[in-house]
Amino acid sequence: MKKTLQNMNVTNKTVIVRVDYNVPIENGKILDDNKILETLETIEYLMAENCKIILLSHLGKVKTEADKMKYTLEPVAKRLKEILNSEVYFTKDILSPDLKKRVAELNPKEILMLENTRFADVPNRLESTCDAQLSLFWSSLADVFVNDAFGTAHRAHASNYGIAKYIPSCIGFLMQKELFSLNKLVKNPEHPFVVVMGGAKIDDKIELMENLIKKCDYLLCAGGIANTCLKALDFGIGQSIASMDFRIINKLQKMMLENKEKFVLPLDAIVGSTYDESYVKYKRIDAIDDNDLILDVGVKTLEKYQKVLSSAKTIFLNGTLGMYENPKFANGTKEFFKMLTNTNAIVVVGGGDSASAVKNLGYQNKFTYISSGGGATLDYLGKENLIALDVIKEEEEIETLDL
Ligand code: 3PG
Repeated sequence: MKKTLQNMNVTNKTVIVRVDYNVPIENGKILDDNKILETLETIEYLMAENCKIILLSHLGKVKTEADKMKYTLEPVAKRLKEILNSEVYFTKDILSPDLKKRVAELNPKEILMLENTRFADVPNRLESTCDAQLSLFWSSLADVFVNDAFGTAHRAHASNYGIAKYIPSCIGFLMQKELFSLNKLVKNPEHPFVVVMGGAKIDDKIELMENLIKKCDYLLCAGGIANTCLKALDFGIGQSIASMDFRIINKLQKMMLENKEKFVLPLDAIVGSTYDESYVKYKRIDAIDDNDLILDVGVKTLEKYQKVLSSAKTIFLNGTLGMYENPKFANGTKEFFKMLTNTNAIVVVGGGDSASAVKNLGYQNKFTYISSGGGATLDYLGKENLIALDVIKEEEEIETLDL
């Protein structure tokens, strides 16, 4: 386990914390503040320790001056102030020497949030190339660095990797919780261990599948992954979303051949059509027509998946079973989520849009753990490593963590 906040002496110190406040914002309004709420434990701990707190985060992808208008962190600072009910200062300054003076003026327990770290990417990509001068400057603002930005820990940027090279560093409570929960899946999961891969994205999930197939007992497929598997097995999938990359298709073919008994594929589907929005049909999986779009699983598939879930002790869910945003194709995902709540298994949800699907369908508090990460969650489960943590020292394993 990496050095943790509770084992770091931070009392009365100035602490710079990397958080992941990459939240959806529309017209200055935050649509989902979950990522902010997830960092409160770390922030409140530092306040209780009488620290001066500097917060760093990225927001969006900042490539041009125009992006800076879209991706200011100011609304996030306001939201944090409301949530904490205490002062959160915000500064547009991320680079100038005046910032040191501003930090020196902070009182203990006060928070200063800097503008989006990726503003340093225009024009010279200083943040995302982990520029040494920038890393050194940010580290010079504080005594201790805390990395609590799980969602971006699969990147080695100045604000989450560079700083840790220069001052004593540790991981915050959110990072600990994420690693603890995801380790239940990658290190000795209780068997039967069932992995469920759905959703529309495919190509960036192959590495994850290659790692998890070695550990799991069953891999239930839906969405784009299932379609690509069916395509690799020479089934017609019409116009359904699937990988076009032959290397991916070959890898899947090999994986299925070597793990025949583990792959669980759909038996039937609810299809739409490319030319008629009102067209919705139930079809057997071997009867998909050229213009069909597979958009949900059918009842026979759900029955087949139910049998596998009923004995599971550990379940990892990534993605949805169909295009649940459209009520015509939401049944598979809804029924499957219901089935998950009726198992006695540890259910961990993570990656990409999985957490929003769970939230949108009203299952937020019904599973064991919902990871706050997208790419980072998949990267960790695939590689069992997160690059940003490579620079943080190890410590003795902590015994327990209440989730
Ligand atoms: C996320 O939302 O997945 C993280 O904040 C990482 O964002 P990024 O892909 O822009 O680095």
